[in-house]
Amino acid sequence: MNKKNFLRGRFEAEADALAKSFTQSVSHDRRLYLEDIAGSVAHARMLAAQGIITREEADLLVGGLERVRAEIEAGDFVWKEDLEDVHMNIESRLTELVGEAGKKLHTGRSRNDQVALDFRLFVSRRLGEWAVLTQELMRALTRQAEKGQEIFLPGYTHLQAAQPVSLAQHLLAYAWMFKRDVERMRDADKRTRVSPLGAAALAGTSHPLDPLRVARDLRLEAVFDNSMDAVSDRDFALEAMFCASLGMAHLSRLCEDIILWANPAFGFVRLPDAYSTSSSIMPQKKNPDVAELARGKTGQVYGALLGLLTTLKGLPMTYNRDLQEDKAAFFMVDDALSGSLRVMAGMAASLDFRAENMRLALAKGYVNATELADYLVSKGIPFRDAHGLTGAAVSLAEKRGVGLEDLPLDDLRAICPAIDEGLYPLLAPETAVRRRTTPGGTGPESVKAQLTRLKHWLA
Ligand code: ARG
Repeated sequence: MNKKNFLRGRFEAEADALAKSFTQSVSHDRRLYLEDIAGSVAHARMLAAQGIITREEADLLVGGLERVRAEIEAGDFVWKEDLEDVHMNIESRLTELVGEAGKKLHTGRSRNDQVALDFRLFVSRRLGEWAVLTQELMRALTRQAEKGQEIFLPGYTHLQAAQPVSLAQHLLAYAWMFKRDVERMRDADKRTRVSPLGAAALAGTSHPLDPLRVARDLRLEAVFDNSMDAVSDRDFALEAMFCASLGMAHLSRLCEDIILWANPAFGFVRLPDAYSTSSSIMPQKKNPDVAELARGKTGQVYGALLGLLTTLKGLPMTYNRDLQEDKAAFFMVDDALSGSLRVMAGMAASLDFRAENMRLALAKGYVNATELADYLVSKGIPFRDAHGLTGAAVSLAEKRGVGLEDLPLDDLRAICPAIDEGLYPLLAPETAVRRRTTPGGTGPESVKAQLTRLKHWLA
């Protein structure tokens, strides 16, 4: 047989060396080898079941594919750029191993539906892993929240101290965000687990294939409805990348809180040594680089999502080689998200919160002003008026450099005669938290209920 590359039957000339390395994708799409082999095994079995190849040929193919897999996993497989991508590399080696039968594997199939299948299987597997990793992080946060039910700190709006909250409430806010991320990943997975095999190049095939059998074999949920759609859309990858982007957004906000809290101006958390770095010049430094890097990778993930959306938007029907860029983008997102989730779950589990510094922060910033206003409302004063009167009290306390709770009763009564001794206990931060009894609020009943729901969901 002709020694030249088996994809180049119609050409006289060899490919230009730069063009070859420019078009190859095997340097990165070899990550799809497991999915490529699983897809080929299912395809071979279906070909035999349909009488398109013999049982013996199918057995040879399946056995050969298993051997290829073993070679790849043992590091013995020789990947060749000349063979462009993971699909041709595996098929070529398979044919070396099993002879003539190897050449029948691609019957009724195109790399266009093959790559779409491999990629869908891969994206689905990664969505599953992301969900697991996200739940690990949720577990770490939930455990910290359990310990933080009696620890109080200022809750912030505009990064200005607003009202007292429990540490548990603050951490659980993130747990709920991550729960929605997991649900979003599971939902995206349903649309990912659709088999495109049988679409062939773009139009379907004249061979009597059974796409449903392949889908069932691969435990996929459905089969494509339209062959042109099947080989040309990458919405499943984009959806997964959006899930990852939002996951990174949530993670990045958690990182930002940790970075702020580790700053001595807050002092709310002591970074575990194992997750801190130092400076090459300033020996006193303890830097939150791990959280900063996770925050930083968020930009790359958004960039990859936007990049692939842009790649897709100008493509005419059906497959275009531009689509090959989908995998590099997705792998980048996968590495960033999986790596960040893993390391942040470890870090979240070992954060050492400083309740004393949180208490000191509560003493500043008039976080109990709302308590005074609500107290006045309980005395029959309309909220808008109560708001104004409380403002006057804050202004007076500020002038004296004291807290609201330090103002003598006479001074408070000069502002509003409805105030009596009963006000003072209400100004304590723990009381403020305890009195937030509405569902979902920072009160202890709500926090307990949240913990129960989250733990139940995680189990
Ligand atoms: N490596 C290609 C990709 O990732 C596989 C499909 C190639 N199809 C083609 N007609 N050239 O998209």
